[in-house]
Amino acid sequence: MGLKHSLIGQFPWLLDRVNYVEQLAKLLPHFASKRNPWKIPITSRDLYDAIDAKEQRDYYNDRKRLCRSGGRNIWATEREARMKYLEPIVREIDGLLAVQDRVSILEVGCGNCINLIELTERYGDRIVLKGIDISSGRLNVARDYFGDRLVGIETWVESITDPTPDAQKAQYDLVFSMHCLEQIPYAAVQAVAGLWDRAISRVVMIEPVWEYARGAQRLKLVRDDYIRTLLPAVRYLGYPIQHEGPLGFESSQKNQSSLIILTKTDTRGE
Ligand SMILES: C[S@@+](CC[C@H](N)C(=O)[O-])C[C@H]1O[C@@H](n2cnc3c(N)ncnc32)[C@H](O)[C@@H]1O
Repeated sequence: MGLKHSLIGQFPWLLDRVNYVEQLAKLLPHFASKRNPWKIPITSRDLYDAIDAKEQRDYYNDRKRLCRSGGRNIWATEREARMKYLEPIVREIDGLLAVQDRVSILEVGCGNCINLIELTERYGDRIVLKGIDISSGRLNVARDYFGDRLVGIETWVESITDPTPDAQKAQYDLVFSMHCLEQIPYAAVQAVAGLWDRAISRVVMIEPVWEYARGAQRLKLVRDDYIRTLLPAVRYLGYPIQHEGPLGFESSQKNQSSLIILTKTDTRGE
């Protein structure tokens, strides 16, 4: 824990200002660089193909992060933070399970597969879980790391920006993404349509949203070339938004998640 986190971390407003200056200092040299930093799906795939099981190790070693909850900075383990992110998904699954015996779920950009493990351990055979990711490397690393724990959970390589195959259309009660669409800055419309096409009932996106971002995050969204047009894309497509807003819990002080829920068919009869 550095000085910044131990001392300044006690004052959220101060940390926001420090993060802002830090992001600005990182952004400016970016434009001077000869490298073309803007992402297409293949860039994301190549980036993620190069990652080992560090995310899983950090997660199960209870690494702590400086998070924000209800406007206060707090330390939380990776697992505590992820469980907070999973809360809206759990709420949707519980709602669906109240009216049907089994729920089929697809995670788009399942990557390290930690969400799939957490959900299968929570719900067992009351859910049928599947995951897609653009990076075969991520899926192989997860399969090696989790071994038997992923048995029964089908995962395969697919980009959510490609046209939805007919066999995938309206196949899952719930389709969700968590920090996957953030990697797709220039195909937001195709990506959101891809989630929607695969869903029967609900789409849940836990992603950075420009409109709800603080200053430092906006700079980061530009510098890292993360998505900046998620809400406009949803609105352009005309999909009904059941909920949009900040999550209330932030596992990252520089790249907060927001929540967007779309209702396709209300099987719960509300
Ligand atoms: C930040 S990781 C998030 C992984 C996981 N959802 C989680 O919450 O830990 C983003 C993931 O999205 C995947 N991804 C990026 N672009 C994608 C695309 N076009 N289609 C499917 N997956 C994609 C990446 O390969 C990566 O595994």
